[in-house]
Amino acid sequence: MTVSPQEMDRVVEARSISKSFGPVAALRDVSMVVRPGAVHALVGENGAGKSTLAKVLAGIERPSSGTMTLDGAVYAPRDRSEAKRRGINMVPQQLSLVGELSLVENYLLVGPRRLANRRSARALLAETLSRARVEVDLDVPTASLTQAHRQLGEIVVALAEGAHTLILDEPTASLGPLEVGGLFEHLRALCDLGTAVVLITHRLDEVRQVADDLTVLSHGEGVHNGSAAGLASGEIARLMVGELPPPVARVPRALGGVVLSARGLVAGSTRDTRLDDVDLEVRSGEILGIAGVAGSGQNLLLDVLGGFVEPEQGTVTLDGGAPGASAVALLNAGLAWIPEERSEALVPGLSLRDNLNLYSTAVGAVSTERTLPHITADLQAFDVRPARPELAAAGLSGGNQQKLLAARELGALPEPRAVLAYGPTQGLDQRAAQAIRGRLIDQAAAGAAVVVASHDLEEVLAVADRIVVMFGGRVVADLPAADATTDRIGRAMAGLADDTPPADKDLP
Ligand SMILES: Nc1ncnc2c1ncn2[C@@H]1O[C@H](COP(=O)(O)OP(=O)(O)OP(=O)(O)O)[C@@H](O)[C@H]1O
Ligand SMILES: [Mg+2]
Repeated sequence: MTVSPQEMDRVVEARSISKSFGPVAALRDVSMVVRPGAVHALVGENGAGKSTLAKVLAGIERPSSGTMTLDGAVYAPRDRSEAKRRGINMVPQQLSLVGELSLVENYLLVGPRRLANRRSARALLAETLSRARVEVDLDVPTASLTQAHRQLGEIVVALAEGAHTLILDEPTASLGPLEVGGLFEHLRALCDLGTAVVLITHRLDEVRQVADDLTVLSHGEGVHNGSAAGLASGEIARLMVGELPPPVARVPRALGGVVLSARGLVAGSTRDTRLDDVDLEVRSGEILGIAGVAGSGQNLLLDVLGGFVEPEQGTVTLDGGAPGASAVALLNAGLAWIPEERSEALVPGLSLRDNLNLYSTAVGAVSTERTLPHITADLQAFDVRPARPELAAAGLSGGNQQKLLAARELGALPEPRAVLAYGPTQGLDQRAAQAIRGRLIDQAAAGAAVVVASHDLEEVLAVADRIVVMFGGRVVADLPAADATTDRIGRAMAGLADDTPPADKDLP
């Protein structure tokens, strides 16, 4: 790659950066050089220090020690806006859009003053969207967008703000393959114009696909620094988490009676496509995967199954209980719930202990309080790090918050009768993702009806016995895992008819 002398001026260099949060050393002596015109992948296990390093680069956190330079000159931003003025911007892991405002209004809030005019802001965002080949509604409150669209929206706002160095903290965690493809093409085009991109991701295929440079962090220390070219996914994974235990073997499970049943569901919400006559049955011992591109209705379906949204028509029953039960009643009847957005299920200001005990204080819930030994055992069993019961959940890394949520929902006694999980392994490193998949399989083996929805097809294919595909608020395919080829599922996700020859199709 050729780098012009002008671009050389924009090298960002971090030297011996350390950062501690109280007793926790998040970064120790980490160095990194970010080159203009290159994609620099920053990877490492959950809690390795990636987000912390990104925040130091973007002026959101001040390092405890170490120095940074930009263009050879001292770079010690006091805050995020100073970093932005010097051309370094970041899209954080926890999305930061103001939900009541549209993307245009969010942009007006943070963008440069010279564009403080709705028409020009809108035009700029629309142009950025079309360059990245994505469609997101610019004018509705962002709270009413799907999580994928909010994530894309936040990236688009940052792109429109303009930066010579753009840091993206797990930008693809809630995106499907189509959106990821468009986004990466756009990032490459920006790089060709000299922008530097720092990309934090747990998807190693993405590292292979777009990265030029690679930094691997482990326990707060830099353990690899160099070119990303020529490294196989397996090698990167080993650098990140060491040798992985073999994945949980798939043993056939005997299915029992229907535990979760939905009939003729019709429902609407501002955040997802309307459900149009959805029927679904999940048996004891079964893991049902729900696939679909973002906004196909799968989010709303889970909200209806979980008792959070009342359907306009149709019924949901759990374990033969009364139809139309509320979320609290379903919780009491043994429903575990892992939503797409963990912020909807965790309270960041509360301690790990109080988050695990959240239901024991919920009005009407019958859950008993877990004692300290239980809490400690749960945190250890789910490998939440640091496993300090009195730490506030906000002090956990993104992936460790996801583990905490899984610990509450899947570690509970008595075992759940049904599990509803949307993207349960999002943001997890390979080892942790494998452990959570194992937990879901254990729950099914113990007799629960398990539903795993995701727009990441791999996540669904990894555990499901049967796969349902949603498109436009309807179930458009229902296949046993053995017949669910990526091709067949992919066609259904795109709303295309199944072109598998009839002989190969399952008899109804
Ligand atoms: N505000 C904070 N207060 C206390 N501890 C923190 C805070 N922010 C981060 N930490 C700790 O610093 C360490 C590194 O966290 P960081 O968020 O950088 O990890 P990460 O590599 O981004 O992980 P993930 O893949 O899970 O997002 C963790 O041990 C975390 O608990
Ligand atoms: Mg992080």
